[in-house]
Amino acid sequence: MKQLNKHNIAIIPGDGIGPEVINSGLKVIRRSLRLDNISIKEKVYNWGSNYYKKHQLMMPKNGLEKLKQHNAIFFGAVGDEKIADDITLWGLRLKICQGLDQFANIRPSKYIEGIKSPLDKKIAKNIDWLIVRENSEGEYAGSGGIVHRDLPIEIGSEVAIFTKEGCRRIHDYAFKLALKRPRKHLTLITKSNAQRHGMKLWDKMFYEVKRKYPTIKTEKLLVDAATAVMVNNPEKIDVMVATNLHADILSDLASALSGSLGIGATANISTDKKIPSMFEPIHGSAFDIVGKNIANPIGAIWSGMMMLEHLGEKKSAARIFKAIKIYANKNGPFTPDLGGIASTDQVTNEILKLLD
Ligand code: IPM
Ligand code: MG
Repeated sequence: MKQLNKHNIAIIPGDGIGPEVINSGLKVIRRSLRLDNISIKEKVYNWGSNYYKKHQLMMPKNGLEKLKQHNAIFFGAVGDEKIADDITLWGLRLKICQGLDQFANIRPSKYIEGIKSPLDKKIAKNIDWLIVRENSEGEYAGSGGIVHRDLPIEIGSEVAIFTKEGCRRIHDYAFKLALKRPRKHLTLITKSNAQRHGMKLWDKMFYEVKRKYPTIKTEKLLVDAATAVMVNNPEKIDVMVATNLHADILSDLASALSGSLGIGATANISTDKKIPSMFEPIHGSAFDIVGKNIANPIGAIWSGMMMLEHLGEKKSAARIFKAIKIYANKNGPFTPDLGGIASTDQVTNEILKLLD
């Protein structure tokens, strides 16, 4: 049978363990698609810290234009010991997310039988969360500056920006996702008790959008209290919508509680159909373990699965999730972050075998 070649993917392996895990993720998505007789067109962009060392830029000036020619972006990690973190981040990952207006960042966390949580199993098995992170403004808006540089009276400001439309669109996206889930429950994460301007607008827009979704039950939680609820009563949460920084912090907690940062996956979504969305593991470049073949590839494989779902390849995506579940249920083998001694390649090969 002739293979259908429908999807044109941009691949940015990036720095550190990025290339190692992206390689695993690609093997898994290619194989799952092939079983459904679909192939993808891939174009690798070697942007990131090594590119920066040659060009003083994390990606070329026309990088965003190049990315717009693709249907999706599969991204590894950025970060380098020799370059300041804000340069690598703002030069690549944030430049793409903000430049392509991928305003919704989706981070699922789910208890999977066989993967050990730091929580008691009775409690951990209730973890089934979707964090919806505002991804275009808030605390990451980049507004601020330094005044009186290098003088004793030097000051730095970092201004969180909340726009009415920015709040409206992320809440609306979160309500739509909650509608698709059986529990139909959405938690508003806020800190409007202490931060009474931007956070108040954030809350106000939530309740304005809520009127459109009468079947969704909602709850409001202050971000600090939310951490305790996640640890003690995971069943109280289904979908959460949170600001850029709050969701950044809560999603590391969510990943750790569901087993390891190595399994966290994320989608940066643009709702404009002509603009590609970007899929990446939530972990960083982890230069301490580069080249050791021990990085956990599950975060990248899970991200690849989210990319296939987004591209409408539900069957190939579901097959990957099933393989991850069987892999975990029969106890791995796991990489060191999950308490095992397996290599990245061993885990990848195991998942590939389970796809067939
Ligand atoms: C994440 C990461 C990034 C973030 C880092 C690398 C700046 O922690 O995707 O969660 O804070 O957004
Ligand atoms: Mg983070």
